[in-house]
Amino acid sequence: METRLVTFLLLLFSSSSYSYKPVVLIHGIMTGSGSMEMISHRIQEKHPGTVVYNVNRFEGWTSLETMWHQVLEIGMDVANISAKHPGGINIIGYSQGGLVARGIVQTFSNVSVDTFISLSSPQAGQYGAGFLHLVFPGLVKDTVYELFYSRVGQHTSVGNYWNDPYHQTLYETYSVYLPYINNHIRSAKSDDFKNNLLRLKRLVLIGGPDDDVITPWQSSQFGYYNGSESVIEMRAQDIYKEDRIGLRALDSSNRLHVLTVPGVNHFSWHMNVTIVDDCLLPYLD
Ligand SMILES: *[C@@H]1O[C@H](CO)[C@@H](O)[C@H](O)[C@H]1NC(C)=O
Ligand SMILES: *[C@@H]1O[C@H](CO)[C@@H](O)[C@H](O)[C@H]1NC(C)=O
Ligand SMILES: *[C@@H]1O[C@H](CO)[C@@H](O)[C@H](O)[C@H]1NC(C)=O
Ligand SMILES: *[C@@H]1O[C@H](CO)[C@@H](O)[C@H](O)[C@H]1NC(C)=O
Repeated sequence: METRLVTFLLLLFSSSSYSYKPVVLIHGIMTGSGSMEMISHRIQEKHPGTVVYNVNRFEGWTSLETMWHQVLEIGMDVANISAKHPGGINIIGYSQGGLVARGIVQTFSNVSVDTFISLSSPQAGQYGAGFLHLVFPGLVKDTVYELFYSRVGQHTSVGNYWNDPYHQTLYETYSVYLPYINNHIRSAKSDDFKNNLLRLKRLVLIGGPDDDVITPWQSSQFGYYNGSESVIEMRAQDIYKEDRIGLRALDSSNRLHVLTVPGVNHFSWHMNVTIVDDCLLPYLD
């Protein structure tokens, strides 16, 4: 009798003690997992018991390898992690890492993500000196399309999401990543890309006007330049209006959270404890 009672109490106790879902962190361009350590520590401090996987592939210069290569390779790791945690996992991607993370979410149907947080990532692309000069100090944004929109230029991650508003035909012809995962160009994968994003319980898009690297900063929230460099916000973009990847459906079911935070430079998002406390932790359960 005692044994059964103890077993019952143990079951009761273990089911009532809350456990947080594991979190996968994906770092930005030209850095590595070390740059995500503060977020990792803060999550474990405030949400004790959380298992954090801090991706250490494609660090430093190798972060310039193509987006598809990174998505497929990191995606295999994340699929393994997901298989170990059938209750679901959460993913946070910072900067380019958020665009890698979205590729994984949209491509791997065996990855079960509850919350995906995109922390200042160029989700609608990039057209600006800030980002370009991190990696290629000598290049000029007005003419770099000649390099990026070529077979050779597509061998760098930045070329894969360079979105020049004045050269959209070349973007559509050469870019092998962004126009596809945005279902701007339809492909055999388009339905999967959308259905997989729609499996999210939450999509959190974080960005802000003082970013100074993501250009335009609204790209962190799927806003982008039109053909004369006026920014058109997400809800007025075709990707949203035509619900090409599920953004509108996520929004109308209250699963899309768009956070605009002023006063944060691009290199501070992942170093700022207030951002972790106010913008990340509330979405991680
Ligand atoms: C995933 O797990 C399988 C089985 O444990 C293992 O063989 C494989 O190497 C793992 N893949 C990665 C990318 O870790
Ligand atoms: C997940 O799916 C990919 C194919 O999309 C497959 O290669 C991989 O082995 C799968 N991983 C697991 C852990 O099921
Ligand atoms: C871009 O948007 C602005 C503001 O709505 C508009 O005045 C302009 O004509 C648009 N440019 C193009 C090329 O559509
Ligand atoms: C940290 O983030 C807060 C907003 O949450 C912002 O007001 C503050 O300026 C940021 N600090 C730095 C150093 O970026």
